Amino acid sequence: MEYRRLGSSDLTVSEISLGSWLTYGVGVEADAARACVERAIDVGINFFDTANAYGRGAAEEFLGATLDGLERDSYVLATKVYFPMSRTDKGLSAEQIHKQLEASLRRLRTDYVDLYQAHRYDRNTPLEETMQAFTDVVREGKARYIGISEWAAGQIRSALDLPDVVRIVSSQPQYSMLWRKPEKHVFPLCQSEEIGNIVWSPLAQGVLTGKYPPGSPPPADSRAASESMGQMMGRWRDDDVLDAVQKLKPIADGANLTMAQLALAWVLRKPVVSSAIIGATKPEQVEDNAAASGVKLSDDVLQAIDDVLTAVL
Ligand SMILES: NC(=O)c1ccc[n+]([C@@H]2O[C@H](COP(=O)([O-])OP(=O)(O)OC[C@H]3O[C@@H](n4cnc5c(N)ncnc54)[C@H](OP(=O)(O)O)[C@@H]3O)[C@@H](O)[C@H]2O)c1
Repeated sequence: MEYRRLGSSDLTVSEISLGSWLTYGVGVEADAARACVERAIDVGINFFDTANAYGRGAAEEFLGATLDGLERDSYVLATKVYFPMSRTDKGLSAEQIHKQLEASLRRLRTDYVDLYQAHRYDRNTPLEETMQAFTDVVREGKARYIGISEWAAGQIRSALDLPDVVRIVSSQPQYSMLWRKPEKHVFPLCQSEEIGNIVWSPLAQGVLTGKYPPGSPPPADSRAASESMGQMMGRWRDDDVLDAVQKLKPIADGANLTMAQLALAWVLRKPVVSSAIIGATKPEQVEDNAAASGVKLSDDVLQAIDDVLTAVL
């Protein structure tokens, strides 16, 4: 496993990190979930991403119990705030940031998170209030650094321009061979401002592993077939996308990589990406994905990927 510095922070994160949306505490039973985390640690993954809203606290509870007993400074822990925890508990007001962080720390069984992230931008709270509250939790030692997720470049810029508040060190956008939107505005800003990107759904929720043949029902043990995990895959299940993805198989074979490794090496080709956050339902997937760390794709491979996917982007 290779490691990268997360933006301007002093956090060093594994190029492949493990997330817990839909999976841990929700769709994946506890033994399998624990086996994934254990395999992650075995292969050198040191970075775990979660959110208060994943399973309304269940993902944090699971991680807290599973990481309990490890040296706290042997892993980097990130969680998030914004999405509803109840009808009234949501958003990025100062009150919510303090309240939700306390609850996250309790579930995670720790005194601090390494990275506390705004899960989305909150249009109903003044940015000054949000950033001041983030500054306060950093001063109190409850979060080491602050990050954001899916903020537009202009919103990130506005936060950076505020005086006397903590500096955002990371951005968490969706990014994959099939979803390249951050390349336009967010990555250039992050590059110039030393903000690291930890990118989500780098496998397009498993589609880029090639496991979904077009025109066939999804494999029984896959996300697409799962009641609890398969409802958010949207366009990735369309036949034109699945057809194009099948054409990546010979490119991966030619590079001596699995399709998952090809997709992960593709996002990691950019220095502005600090880590690819994968999901995994089985420890073998963690191992397969971790082996993408350190892989360099040639210009010919990158061109072949674009030739195959351009029509569906
Ligand atoms: N900030 C945000 O708004 C946001 C949004 C979404 C996600 N995230 C973060 O990003 C993380 C990853 O998202 P994601 O789960 O969508 O990522 P992903 O890595 O694109 O997809 C993960 C899923 O693909 C399948 N898979 C993974 N590796 C595989 C392999 N080697 N071979 C075959 N199948 C494989 C597994 O599902 P099956 O085995 O069930 O098919 C796995 O659960 C989340 O856990 C969360 O921490 C953040």
